[in-house]
Amino acid sequence: MALCLEDAWFKYDEYVLKGASICLSEGELAILLGPMGSGKSTLLYALANLLPLEKGRITLDGEPFREEDRKKVGIVFQDPEDQFFNVTVFDEIAYSLRALGFSDHEVESKVKAVASKLGIENLLYKNPFKLSYGQKKLVALASVLVYEPKYLLVDEPTSNLDKVSYGKVMSLIAERGALVTTHEVDWLPLASKVYVLEDGKVREVKDVVKALKDRSLPVPLPTSWEVLIETLGPERALDIMREKARKLTVLKPQQ
Ligand SMILES: Nc1ncnc2c1ncn2[C@@H]1O[C@H](COP(=O)(O)OP(=O)(O)O)[C@@H](O)[C@H]1O
Ligand SMILES: [Mg+2]
Repeated sequence: MALCLEDAWFKYDEYVLKGASICLSEGELAILLGPMGSGKSTLLYALANLLPLEKGRITLDGEPFREEDRKKVGIVFQDPEDQFFNVTVFDEIAYSLRALGFSDHEVESKVKAVASKLGIENLLYKNPFKLSYGQKKLVALASVLVYEPKYLLVDEPTSNLDKVSYGKVMSLIAERGALVTTHEVDWLPLASKVYVLEDGKVREVKDVVKALKDRSLPVPLPTSWEVLIETLGPERALDIMREKARKLTVLKPQQ
C-alpha cells in the first residue's frame, strides 16, 4: 500500500521537478531533505495532486489517483496560515470532519482528543490567525491529523517550535508515519527512508551511515553530531542519536 509520484515534471518559471519519483508506504516515516529552493514543497504538492503536472503519474495503492482519494491524503503546509480560514481553532480543526459527515458529537470528541494530544486545548476558542507561529503550526497539524488520512505529507513541521512542542510533533508524526520535509537532522535516526531532492530528481539515501561519514547529506549537522561522528564513528553515533530521538519523542502519559 503506497502513495506514489512517478516521473513528475513541473515548472513555475523554471523547471523544479525534472522526472521526480517518490513513494510513501502506509505507516512508514520517510524524510525528504534538500537545500532551500530545491523544490521540496513543490514535490509534496505534486504528491497530493495539487499541481497541474506537465508530465507524471500519481497512484494510490496501485491505482491512478481519483478525486475521492483526496480524503486519504493529508497535507500540512509549511506556512500554517495557508491552511486557515475559520475564526476559531475549534472550527478549523473540525472543518474536515464536518465535511466528511461526522456527527456533532463525534466532531467534538475527535477535536478534543487531537487538541489534547498536541497540548492545544486552551487554544480551541481563539482565532487561529492571532496565535504565535509555533501555536499556528500545531493547529495546522491538528486540523489534518484529526481525520486520520491514510497518507500524511508534512512540510517542515518542526521549524520554529519550542522544545516541548517539537517532541510532541515528532512523536505524533513518527508513530503514525508520514513523508516529512525537514532541515532538522533529529528526524534522521527515526526515518525508515531518507530521500534527497536535487536537480529536480529524488534520490534515496540507502546508506545513512556512509552519508554521515562523507558528510554528503544536504542538511547542516549540529556540532554535537559532528563530535559524536568524529569520536565514535558514524555507526555508533547514529545508534546514540536514535536513542536520543526516541527519548525526545516519548509521550508523557498525561499527554
Ligand atoms: N508560486 C511560485 N511561483 C514561482 N516560483 C515558485 C513558486 N513557488 C516556488 N517557486 C520556486 O520554485 C523553487 C522551489 O521552491 P520550493 O518548492 O518552495 O522549494 P523548497 O521547499 O525546497 O524550499 C524555488 O526556486 C522557488 O523560488
Ligand atoms: Mg519548502
